[in-house]
Amino acid sequence: MSIPTSTYVATSGAAYQRFLGRWTEALAQEFAGFASPTMPGPLLDAGCGTGSLALELARSFPDRDVFGIDVAQPYVDYANGRATGGRPAFSKASATALPFADATFAASYAQLVINFIPQPQQALAEMIRVTKPGGAVSATIWDFRGGLVYQRLFWDAASGIEPSAGAARDKHFSTPLAKLDPLLDLWRQSPLRDVRFASLHTRMDYASFDDYWEPLTGGQGPVGVYIDALAPALRENIRTQVRLAYLAGDPDGPRSMVATAWAVTGTKAAR
Ligand SMILES: C[S@@+](CC[C@H](N)C(=O)[O-])C[C@H]1O[C@@H](n2cnc3c(N)ncnc32)[C@H](O)[C@@H]1O
Repeated sequence: MSIPTSTYVATSGAAYQRFLGRWTEALAQEFAGFASPTMPGPLLDAGCGTGSLALELARSFPDRDVFGIDVAQPYVDYANGRATGGRPAFSKASATALPFADATFAASYAQLVINFIPQPQQALAEMIRVTKPGGAVSATIWDFRGGLVYQRLFWDAASGIEPSAGAARDKHFSTPLAKLDPLLDLWRQSPLRDVRFASLHTRMDYASFDDYWEPLTGGQGPVGVYIDALAPALRENIRTQVRLAYLAGDPDGPRSMVATAWAVTGTKAAR
């Protein structure tokens, strides 16, 4: 039996962009600042989704080639629609089998990806292989438990109504690489040197409850999959409860929710 390369359901680039891509653009700025490349050469965004990080890298480093790969063809197609003159260059591939020669990149990045890869050690080994000696290999993951308000609000409100929401939350939040210590251990136990980490801080600014809720229903990732499977009456029940949590005593309108992520980086030893 073959092992899947991804546990992330990714069927529509447009739906992902509405759901999360619009917010991962801000995270990409923080992440690129945390692990800015220190040597010349091209850059890799492994698990690029709809292109947030690759596009940010291409904007910040106009003289470098930037490559984005992802296993989800719909996301790669959407990302290619955002590229200018083939820059960044997006293609379909798995982070566990990167289609690049050894020591190609000045820096390799994985934003919100490593916890969705069933063989994360293999993905990290591949990112190290394709990075030049002296280059950095970096990842960031949401701090699901302590710092991702939009998901806490959804799962905790839903689990008060329907136990399988609690089970889905627990599975998603307790995946080892959705937590800081296992992420740091993965980096520290690899050949990378000078491993350091940080907490990155962004916000998700919703215009209204509809602006929060509708994008969740696009079928992408664990939240989208969970909502998709709900019978209409239960879905409405959960929507009502989540709406009350969103409103929190005030009329409908804008809400700004903190979204923090753990980031880790290490340097490939010089030969
Ligand atoms: C939460 S999304 C993050 C996308 C993008 N990096 C961003 O910040 O918006 C997770 C992404 O990881 C991708 N992914 C999961 N496993 C992968 C693998 N083995 N190789 C490449 N991409 C993978 C999914 O297809 C999806 O696009």
